[in-house]
Formats: sequence, structure tokens, C-alpha cells
Amino acid sequence: MKIMVITSSPNIEGLTESCATAAEKGIERGNSEAIMVRLNDLNILKCEACDEGWGICLEGKCKLEDDFEVVHKAMGAVDGFVVVTPVYFHEMSESAKTFFDRLRRCEANYFTPEKINKIQNKPFICVAAATGGGTLPCLTSMERLFFHLNKMDHKNITSFDYIGVTQRNKDYMLDAIEELL
Ligand SMILES: Cc1cc2nc3c(=O)[nH]c(=O)nc-3n(C[C@H](O)[C@H](O)[C@H](O)COP(=O)(O)O)c2cc1C
Repeated sequence: MKIMVITSSPNIEGLTESCATAAEKGIERGNSEAIMVRLNDLNILKCEACDEGWGICLEGKCKLEDDFEVVHKAMGAVDGFVVVTPVYFHEMSESAKTFFDRLRRCEANYFTPEKINKIQNKPFICVAAATGGGTLPCLTSMERLFFHLNKMDHKNITSFDYIGVTQRNKDYMLDAIEELL
């Protein structure tokens, strides 16, 4: 199996990175392959909300030519996802929001059900890394995001877990992340 670990922090030595490393260790210990994606290293532009609101995202693509296309394509070749964001202002980080805003449009398409979807029915784990507060609203917005990514159908949602990691609980939560993968 291949599992993509998506991180969205500028900090290469912070809590987000520790969560991603724990996930990577767990994935490799389970004899799966970890595909690590650091959104902050990539060039991903913000959604332009084309025309009157929808562009070719209605067909599962985005007109912008940047690293989004590369990651989106790669998502089709993996079996599951771990998404780790730092908590900024009780929300996911800007790089996560920019990426997932565009992914949601390309994937959560209610009008073309015949479209081949790259993440539908694949399991995911969401992790919010904070100093202390805001993991719950951040995870709630991630749950809402994946609800839309799965065409607003609770039956299709294959979430495995929503995990809040803080400076207070990291000693056992990092072990838990490694363990559950
Ligand atoms: C702009 C900004 C906003 C933040 N907002 C919160 C917050 O709402 N709650 C919190 O507990 N920590 C907050 N923090 C702290 C980060 O969540 C914390 O440092 C976390 O570990 C960041 O991930 P990192 O270690 O990968 O940098 C904020 C940090 C920044 C830079």
C-alpha cells in the first residue's frame, strides 16, 4: 500500500513535522510506502473562482498550471492519506486551505458523477498540531472539508480518525499516530 502524508507548515522542525515523522514511521513499519508531500515547498496558487463561480473544476481539473496538478494526480496513485496541519487562529494553515480549496472543487463535484475521482472511498486521517488550543475547531473544519470531498455523502466518508496534538499531549499522541498506521 501507498499512503500520502500531506503537511502544511513552514516549520521543518516543529510539531507538524513530528506528527508527519510519526506517521511515516508507522506506515513503514506496516510495510507500506509513505509518500511525503510538504505543501509549503510547492508553488500552489489560490483558486480564482473562474467565470461565475465554477471553471473546468466541474470536470475535475483546474486551469491553473502549478504544483497542484502534480499532487492531485499523485493522489490517484495512493491508497490513503494522512493530512497534518499546524493550527493557526484555530484553523488549518494557509497552505492547507489554499490546496484543499482547489482540491474540493476538483473532487467534490456533484454534477458529473461519472467523473473518475482520485480520493473517493480512500481512508484518511486528519491531524491538527497546536500549542494548546484550537485543535477542535480546526478538526471540525477538516471534517467538513472531507464531507464535501466525498460528495456530501456520509456513507462514502472513509475517515479513520481526527487527531488533535498539542504540546501537552504530544508525548503519547505521537506514539498513537505511529501506532494507528
Ligand atoms: C499565525 C499563527 C497562529 C497560531 N494560532 C494558534 C492557535 O490558534 N492555537 C494554538 O494552540 N496555537 C497556535 N499557534 C501555534 C501553532 O499552532 C504551533 O506552534 C504549532 O506547533 C505549529 O506547528 P509547527 O510546530 O509545525 O510550526 C499559531 C501559530 C501561528 C504562527
